[in-house]
Amino acid sequence: MQQITIKAPATVANLVCGFDVLGMALEEPCDIMQVGLLDEPFVTVSSRDGFPLPSDPAQNTAGAPLLAIMEELGASRPGLGFEVLIDKKIKPGSGIGSSAASAAGAVVAANHLLGNIFSKQDLVRFAMFGEKVASGVKHADNVAPCIFGGITLIRSIFPLDIVSIPAPSLYVTVVHPQIEVRTADARQILRKNVLLKDAIRQWGNIAGLVAGLMRDDHELIGRSLEDVIIEPVRSILIPGFDEVKRQCKEAGALGGGISGSGPSIFMLSRDAAIAGAVEGCMKGIYEKIGLSYHTYITTINREGVKVYS
Ligand code: HSE
Repeated sequence: MQQITIKAPATVANLVCGFDVLGMALEEPCDIMQVGLLDEPFVTVSSRDGFPLPSDPAQNTAGAPLLAIMEELGASRPGLGFEVLIDKKIKPGSGIGSSAASAAGAVVAANHLLGNIFSKQDLVRFAMFGEKVASGVKHADNVAPCIFGGITLIRSIFPLDIVSIPAPSLYVTVVHPQIEVRTADARQILRKNVLLKDAIRQWGNIAGLVAGLMRDDHELIGRSLEDVIIEPVRSILIPGFDEVKRQCKEAGALGGGISGSGPSIFMLSRDAAIAGAVEGCMKGIYEKIGLSYHTYITTINREGVKVYS
């Protein structure tokens, strides 16, 4: 059987102000997946990491995108199927794109096995079927940076319009307090209406962040990492959130906030020393609260899903 191994990176969706429209790939952590072609029209997904998986591939974040590929190829590839083995290093419900890594990894691997017949944009379209399974809606702000690498702007998902934004050399510190926040729940609690004054502030911040990233303007990036719409609602689900933000900024972080739908919090820093000081603040806060946590110091992944063999 033809089989390959891929590495799919964690991602930070939203980048604070850009709910559902901005995302960034991280160097670490990454899921490892082995994907093989079957000559029967089935998808099987198994894991060697101990995290429970739905047995129905249509309900699985790696399986659903592969079924979408099979449906699209239809009669041109009768009897096409896939076998997936996942070694998940990105904990489900952590807020750093666990479901997206499974979905994006599966479609990049499948495309490679099929002779790279699909564009990256097509792969994002397929991978969003996995996000629908995970969170109830299609969103591309994890799967797009996971597939494209770097920082991506999702200007629209219907039709898909993805813009890669040049990513400056910044360090990313992430703390994952060990509680689980389901994306579907974190979306459910959001208000459905937004005040015009808040919308104006938010789109000013999104434009400021994109301009800051493109100009490598750290001050502008820092000022623009502000969310007046989503963060005030979701941050109440994350113990210690305000203190983490306050102390990390005092330690020199440019800024940061909730990673995706949380509970992870990320902070951007200009150098490794500040990223380390930021990690120290995060550790101190969760030690004091008495909540288990995991931290990462990493950088922006510019390559996206990596195919090994
Ligand atoms: N934009 C999505 C949300 C990302 O915040 O719900 C989930 O990872």
